[in-house]
Amino acid sequence: APVEARVEDLLSRMTLEQKCNQMRGFFENPNMDSYMYDTKEDTELGIPGFMFVDGPRGVRRGNATAFPVGMARGSTWNEDLEYLVGIVMGNETKAKGTDCLLAPCMNLVKDPHGGRTAETYGEDTWQVGRMAVAFVEGVQSEGAMACAKHYAANSDENQRHIKNSVVDLRTLNEIYLPHFKMVATEADVASFMTCYNRVNGQYGCENQYLVREKLKGEWGFDGFVVSDWVATTPAAVGVFPLVSGNLPQIPVIDLLNFTDLPYNPTTQSCLVAGLDVEMPFPAVYQSSEITPLVESGIVPESLIDDAVRRILRMKFEYGMMDNPRTVNEQFVLTPEHISLARAVEQEAIVMLKNHDILPLDVSGIKSIAVIGPAADDKGRLGDHGSSNAQPGDDKIITTLAGIKNKVGSGVTVKYDNGSDPAAAAELARTCDAAVVVVGRDYTEESEGKDLSTLALSDPQPALINAVGAANKNTVVVLITASVVTMNEWIANAPAILMAWYPGMEGGNAIADIIFGDANPSGKLTITFPKNEADLPPSDSNELDMVYSYYHGYRYFDKNNLEPLFPFGYGLSYTTFEYSNMKVDKSVIGLDGKVKVSVDVKNTGDVAGAEVVQLYIGYEGSAVDRSVKDLKGFDKVFLQPGEKKTVTIEVAAENVSYYSTGLGKFVVEPITYDVYVGASSRDIRETGSFRISENQAEIDGGSQSGAKTPGFELFALFAAIGAAALLMGKRRK
Ligand code: GLC
Repeated sequence: APVEARVEDLLSRMTLEQKCNQMRGFFENPNMDSYMYDTKEDTELGIPGFMFVDGPRGVRRGNATAFPVGMARGSTWNEDLEYLVGIVMGNETKAKGTDCLLAPCMNLVKDPHGGRTAETYGEDTWQVGRMAVAFVEGVQSEGAMACAKHYAANSDENQRHIKNSVVDLRTLNEIYLPHFKMVATEADVASFMTCYNRVNGQYGCENQYLVREKLKGEWGFDGFVVSDWVATTPAAVGVFPLVSGNLPQIPVIDLLNFTDLPYNPTTQSCLVAGLDVEMPFPAVYQSSEITPLVESGIVPESLIDDAVRRILRMKFEYGMMDNPRTVNEQFVLTPEHISLARAVEQEAIVMLKNHDILPLDVSGIKSIAVIGPAADDKGRLGDHGSSNAQPGDDKIITTLAGIKNKVGSGVTVKYDNGSDPAAAAELARTCDAAVVVVGRDYTEESEGKDLSTLALSDPQPALINAVGAANKNTVVVLITASVVTMNEWIANAPAILMAWYPGMEGGNAIADIIFGDANPSGKLTITFPKNEADLPPSDSNELDMVYSYYHGYRYFDKNNLEPLFPFGYGLSYTTFEYSNMKVDKSVIGLDGKVKVSVDVKNTGDVAGAEVVQLYIGYEGSAVDRSVKDLKGFDKVFLQPGEKKTVTIEVAAENVSYYSTGLGKFVVEPITYDVYVGASSRDIRETGSFRISENQAEIDGGSQSGAKTPGFELFALFAAIGAAALLMGKRRK
């Protein structure tokens, strides 16, 4: 029978108690890991419980393929590659005998101090949304469910369980929701996870605007909504042990001294808002809480039925009712999966600086120094929180190991952990080249804890300066997932690679780039400021965190600030030339689309990949608009001398603004500037198009070259004006 018929049939046979059992985790299972991640099986009705499993960089259950973190994968700007990552993670989720992967994490990087920056894809809603859609489609093509998290405006970690994100409705709808809407409406994601924090005063798990009105109402989401773990008991979070790995930084809330402890969600508020599953154990969704509300009529049973329908719908759609779970470890950590982790990191690495150092020519090197605290540390795959997927230490390739693998026995590789910069410099002085591997680890940036500074911790700046002074062929490799300010040492670093938390194959991929076996194509998806003071002011210890309309490149544009490295920036071993941009229509209607095409040529002598970015600007808008917004991108792979035409489509609805007065998006009949380039600050071609309500204009709008079609309209208006003057008539 069709899924909906099976859902209704099964629902009609369920008692209230059986329905409630579908909606919560449970304590009974003594195995800490699975008890925290399962809902109860109904043996009488033959309904298996959910088995959830983290996380965004790999399956956190036993050993599994540990990919580069989300920020690394976001920096590939390669949707096809992220789809493949989704396929592998979906495959390994099923192979582990679990049903729903608690990923992608798609929080926007509002401020690079955010402790969970690593897990997401970047600062911009369009770029994050496209990468998340690709990932979800990959995971779910393997029959595993994905879970879009953390919904929404969840970009701060300190006191995360009780924080309140204050975000006006225009900012919420234009900046913090579109990427979630994409995975709900385009990728048909099976589940959403609500955030710990409050959004405009209501916790994610009880937020009627976010869940009932937007997600389930306006967007028509038909999957289920699960709480974040212990999110329904925020005031008590310090009491329950958080078993998602050793998170020393989770600030255990001192219940005795915490004065303005905020309220807790209630059974009623969560049911009314549309929370379908409470994890990991019943607090608000205990039967003793739900039953009286339903029996007294305060909460109609139809709300329970809606929740259970969604749960059963996904269990039927994803085969849980028909196919017994099987564990197939032989499908985990396969050579193909591991080689994909390496390929992803090759495309994730962003070459930030290269003063004719890279690529190193291994035939010209007899010795190389590999120096620094992150050079041979297997604990730097990311934080040790819920996303801490591990492949088994024997499978982790550090930068030191990767360089040794690369150069072979003909080159002497010398290692120093960099704790003594002077000694490290002496070692570097004796070698033909030096690679300084620095960054952060889970004690500095992690779930539950925001970064306190964007500078590298001591003695890393001194180490870079000492080694850079001792050896002119010095390469700095950054192992972290967020911005690093570099004023103290950038002058002594002739080459800088941002490698992020690079995954289990990180060392091999870093060596591939350093020695030129791979050409860097990564581009930043977060803005690197020169100084922390250039960022929007923010105190991550505030309980009320304002989410403003501008952050990242849009903030830097609006405030005429010069970033250290702009959004969308990344160097290559080759060069690319842009030409012949065309906008296929000069005028479109309120529901129209334009196709922007541009030729890109590899003008260097090695193969490479370019991320063509399309930004839109606004002329004469009725409201304040950004200088430009990313509204499309495409990655193109080119052999030396090869030229390809890249075409990016822009729909009118995607350049609209949210009117809080009207409570909806508005498409303005104005002129839109089209900026196409290699970064947000490296625009190579410009053009424009208009949106009009006038059908004659729309019909008249034709193909135009790179010149601004506004010129034609100007000529038209001039002619009309001249005719009117001649006729002595003027528009009043
Ligand atoms: C954690 C995280 C969430 C994770 C969940 C289960 O606290 O916020 O991302 O999926 O709990 O581990």
